[in-house]
Amino acid sequence: MKSKTQAFIAAAVIALAAVPAAAQQQQAKIDAAVVERYVKSAFPKVPEGWQSRVDQDETQRVCTQYHNEPPKAEVEKILAREKATVVFPADGSVVGDWKEGRKVAQNGRGGQFSDAPGTVSGGNCYGCHQLSGAEVSFGTLGPSLRNYGKDRKFDPAEAKATFAKVFNSNSVMPCSNMPRFGYHKVLTEKQIKDVVGYLFDPESPVNK
Ligand code: HEC
Repeated sequence: MKSKTQAFIAAAVIALAAVPAAAQQQQAKIDAAVVERYVKSAFPKVPEGWQSRVDQDETQRVCTQYHNEPPKAEVEKILAREKATVVFPADGSVVGDWKEGRKVAQNGRGGQFSDAPGTVSGGNCYGCHQLSGAEVSFGTLGPSLRNYGKDRKFDPAEAKATFAKVFNSNSVMPCSNMPRFGYHKVLTEKQIKDVVGYLFDPESPVNK
């Protein structure tokens, strides 16, 4: 005869197995208009100039609609739309000063309710990524970027692709959780170049 514990485990396994089907049913029921109203109600007093940060753009709307897994046709549309927003430096050089890039990667301030207007924004890359091996505190929402340039043989084409990635993450991966730093003007062109330098300069601690 099954013990109570065994019966409980069996029930739990059955319940878990049922989750995907239930989740799918729930997905079909979500109404974008309801989500929109809820988000709006969560920000009753949007500060001056912030409304555009609360409104979803077309890509975010599609990502919400498909729970970040859009069908192929939508993926193509997002990639085309987001790629078109990427502005590469006019002189073609994308690898900036890695020491300045380290500051950008370590800085999580700027653009918050508590920041004075005009505060220089950082990229807060460490909030989601490991970069230098010497840094003890980092988030893991994104993949580790240790040895990023070294692993790519410091290839200029890879550096250019990384500039585009940081400028607009969704131009490479639709519905990415990574902020679109250049697109939203969180980082300047120079800051993005410097952060690419942090990833691609052979002297950068990221590659040591
Ligand atoms: C809110 C979390 C978050 C922040 C902040 C963030 N990223 Fe990311 N990043 C991600 C996630 C998640 C991925 C994986 C999905 C993807 O590729 O978009 C990623 C992917 C990447 C990749 C591609 C990695 C690969 O597989 O080749 C690079 C390069 C990168 N991030 C650089 C940066 C840099 C530089 C910064 C700071 C300017 C930064 N990220 C800030 C979440 C973040």
